[in-house]
Amino acid sequence: MTTDQKRRTIPLARPLIGEAEAEASRRPIMSGWLTQGPEVAAFEQEFAAYTGAKHATAVSNCTTALHLALLAVGVGADDEVITVSHSYVATANVVRYCNATPVFVDIEAATSNMDPAKIAAAITPRTKAILCVHQMGMPCDIAAIVAVAKEHGLPVVEDAACASGSEIRWDGQWEKVGKAHGDIACFSFHPRKVITTGDGGMITTNNSDYDKQFRLLRQHGMSISDRVRHSANQVIFEEHSVIGYNYRMTDVQAAIGREQLKRLPDIVATRRRLGDRYRQLLSAAIPGLTMPHEPEWARTNWQSFWVRLPDALDQREVMQGMLDRGVATRRGIMCAHREVPYQRESGYDLPESERAQDRNIILPLYPQMTDEEQDYVVEMLSEVCTQ
Ligand SMILES: Cc1ncc(COP(=O)(O)O)c(C=O)c1O
Repeated sequence: MTTDQKRRTIPLARPLIGEAEAEASRRPIMSGWLTQGPEVAAFEQEFAAYTGAKHATAVSNCTTALHLALLAVGVGADDEVITVSHSYVATANVVRYCNATPVFVDIEAATSNMDPAKIAAAITPRTKAILCVHQMGMPCDIAAIVAVAKEHGLPVVEDAACASGSEIRWDGQWEKVGKAHGDIACFSFHPRKVITTGDGGMITTNNSDYDKQFRLLRQHGMSISDRVRHSANQVIFEEHSVIGYNYRMTDVQAAIGREQLKRLPDIVATRRRLGDRYRQLLSAAIPGLTMPHEPEWARTNWQSFWVRLPDALDQREVMQGMLDRGVATRRGIMCAHREVPYQRESGYDLPESERAQDRNIILPLYPQMTDEEQDYVVEMLSEVCTQ
């Protein structure tokens, strides 16, 4: 290994954030209105306009968004929610927050998304909802999922944590994930996602009753918002008719988010260029490497770009080889059913989910990535895979 290789560090991800966001964050700071005020309201309107959804409600992160979404569709004690194990553990955890049970169905290897053909067999009289995931930004087959859900009268919640800016062809038109094609979609603005507010989340829906409930529950079940009370010229007494939560987004986060949203179209375009470039370079450089399949009705934002290693290669050794060469990677998305809270004696039959965790690795991809950096990642992966 050369000294240059030792020194080089290519991170897995890097948020595209800078002066514009720093400047925007001055507004709430200087105004003195720091949480869930005018910036949050503006961010919500702009996000709704971007996705095409009727309503958008900002919350503290995607986990709290998912929690409120499941509560809105009525998930409660002893219910079952059909979802995937192959996701960040928050997807399964929110089902447990509602004292319900996640019922895991397997994924399709090509997309890493819920296999719609597996849903019907998982439905029982206790099933209350379907919680699908647009994993790593790749749209799941929401049309097929909604079709099964409709047949059984079930609501669909989309975990779109990674999918800001991803698109689906719907009735012949390209539409943004979150329009919402299910009943409710939930987004994350964690720094590992394509746009960030530090932490943060957004819930989109076309159902105004759900939207009212999100607004009530994110603010302790308080009947009146701080903004309305603040600007009223009559005294208003608030009520708390239900037990809510503090799931608020701050105005500092929202001011940053509004700038990030302006950048989103360019971020997605750049990520898609880099994703295409990876596919070309890797297919030429490493025989036997499988790459994600983008269905013809989907446009991913490439929040993460994964490859499936040939069977002869050890995942950890490849990752270590990359790290030794200054390139960060991550293993495939985790499976919740292998984590302590979800383990059970009878086990699970989720072979594709397990293979994706054990055989895939995620490669660096961020909007600032240069062609030279990407060439280096491909060159190093080729070296590690063939040595
Ligand atoms: C698929 C998925 N769902 C939910 C979450 C939770 O998002 P947050 O960290 O904003 O709560 C994540 C975050 O990594 C995720 O990847």
